[in-house]
Amino acid sequence: MAFTAHTRKKIAVIGAGFVGSTTAHWAAQKELGDVVLLDINEGAAIGKTLDLAQAATMEMFDTKIKGTSNYADIANSDVVIITAGMPRKPGMSRDELIGINAKIVKDVCAGIKQHAPDSIVIVVCNPMDVMALYAKQQLGFPKERVLGMGGCLDSARFRTFIAEECGVSYKDVTGVVVGNHGDAMVPLVRTASVGSVPLIDMLPADKIAAIVQRTKSAGAEIGGHLKTGSAYYAPSRGAVEMAEAILKDQKRVLPVAVELNGEFGVSDKMMVGVMCVIGGKGLEKIIDYKFNADEKAEFEKSVNAVRTLCEGLKTVQ
Ligand code: APR
Repeated sequence: MAFTAHTRKKIAVIGAGFVGSTTAHWAAQKELGDVVLLDINEGAAIGKTLDLAQAATMEMFDTKIKGTSNYADIANSDVVIITAGMPRKPGMSRDELIGINAKIVKDVCAGIKQHAPDSIVIVVCNPMDVMALYAKQQLGFPKERVLGMGGCLDSARFRTFIAEECGVSYKDVTGVVVGNHGDAMVPLVRTASVGSVPLIDMLPADKIAAIVQRTKSAGAEIGGHLKTGSAYYAPSRGAVEMAEAILKDQKRVLPVAVELNGEFGVSDKMMVGVMCVIGGKGLEKIIDYKFNADEKAEFEKSVNAVRTLCEGLKTVQ
């Protein structure tokens, strides 16, 4: 039988800090493809990938892992995940990071544009919606290939708190968070269910309100405990959920920040989380979720929060 050449998938993770290195870890462990971890600090990228590759011999994952500071190494990546950037310090909002992280995103996008021009890009660094929009502008890629990770994380947090409150397995809980990845995010209580039973039939209104509130401040809650740095296990896993949907052409329905061009009444190309079909082409479809009046009002507030923050981009050199 003739040997058929097999093309392995390739994932580039930019930023080898907490979020980037755990992203590389999840992606390698799931054998999504070969992983390149790039950081301006070459030592961090190389050191962490050597460590991860040595773990692979015990965990038996069959993935090539390379650390680098050279963008030429990301050539032919199918997916590029941008995690480079400063995390929040306690008491800091995600929004205060704009100036610093936009400069980093600009550098990173120049490297991606030159060396991985056909990739699908997932933006993780904060303030995510604004950084995703900025990355899209810098890259000039079509909307299908620039996606923001926030909704997968916020929805996972929402489901975690529902499962814990109800004392049930995470596996049996649904619940989606749309809008921006910030304080104005919109946990859609109508989408929440436990074993297919609507959450509103499972818990009293005050308990649901507490879950919604805790979801909105979940990142700050973690940062408050950590004192330095911010969350990374769940953010990185959120990025890998999206990468897996792309690399395996899964057609997953995931809440992802994408450019809106008239959908939900947003016509100025803001990027904000909505339910999407994610597959081999990246964004394949935006789900036409019918907001009720309260949800619509909250969603509009959420989009406005991104719009206001985008003003901060005008001063970035
Ligand atoms: N190019 C490549 N890497 C860079 C650049 C750059 N221009 N600038 C900074 N970095 C790298 C740093 O060297 C560091 O290794 O980005 C990494 C950031 O890592 P951490 O400080 O550990 O931050 P982390 O917790 O990973 O958060 C990264 O993700 O969730 C968001 O809010 C978070 O914006 C933050 C980002």
